[in-house]
Amino acid sequence: MAHACGKVILLGEHAVVHGVPAIAAGIERGATAQAERAASTELSIDSVTASPGDGSDLGRALSALLAELGVTGVRIRASSALPVGCGLGSSAALAVAVARAVQDLEGSPSPERTLAAATAWEQVFHGNPSGIDTAAAIHGGCIWYTRQGGPVPLSLGRPLTLGVAVAGPAASTKQMVESVAQLGQRRPEVFAKSLAGIESLVKNARLALEAGDLPGLGRLLDLNQMLLSGLMVSTEEIETACRLARAAGALGAKLTGAGGGGAVIALCDDDPEPVLAAWRQGGLACFSTRVGAKADAP
Ligand code: MEV
Repeated sequence: MAHACGKVILLGEHAVVHGVPAIAAGIERGATAQAERAASTELSIDSVTASPGDGSDLGRALSALLAELGVTGVRIRASSALPVGCGLGSSAALAVAVARAVQDLEGSPSPERTLAAATAWEQVFHGNPSGIDTAAAIHGGCIWYTRQGGPVPLSLGRPLTLGVAVAGPAASTKQMVESVAQLGQRRPEVFAKSLAGIESLVKNARLALEAGDLPGLGRLLDLNQMLLSGLMVSTEEIETACRLARAAGALGAKLTGAGGGGAVIALCDDDPEPVLAAWRQGGLACFSTRVGAKADAP
């Protein structure tokens, strides 16, 4: 059974599409897939089934992934433990798990082929992805990521305990990325300042992560959330979830992923329970996850 992890972006989403560095972490929840040879090609994800040429986005993504691997005649069964479209990398995790399962039929999966196949899949859903979701799903651990340089594993001074809540219905990553790009065209100077601000937060966050300075990292998450609001990707539900988390003792909180709805992360000082309790009381589905102290392999 092939597995790939989901992800949270700690800082730098959206800006990463425009060349700024971002920091992401693989999370334990993810996707699994198993493949077998078959007369016709088909993919089932939980209760949804797709095949190349069926006209669905999933069918097109499957077709692009298999073309990249040069494989036909395969039946794949996949499953995801991640809420779909909420910024937790469900699409990339599925792509990586499926690409690994298909390669398992021939021998060991190669990271390069997995990356190429998963990128082809992601392009169907996301148009102009930076590649950070795919990189996080492949590498796990905590990564520094730029479009130009790809992923670099980071070693953390202290492990992170994160609360993750789903604050409102999912939004389309493709549409959110397009709306930020349009904002950049309408107000280029303001946009450039936002990107520069986010870049400096991400660089400081790397230092805080490596030094194990969790209070410092928390403040940087809060500042990143302010700049994301300025890019019009936050919502009232996201702001409320961040407020609830901070009031319950979180060191910092922000949306993660494309925004417009979806997931919020809160950096907790070890015990996530008070933050999770506050979210549950506010009616939000949530869970906690740990990001390890070492730059660990998937
Ligand atoms: C989505 O998880 C992250 C975005 O920055 C898009 C991307 O990097 O492709 C919003």
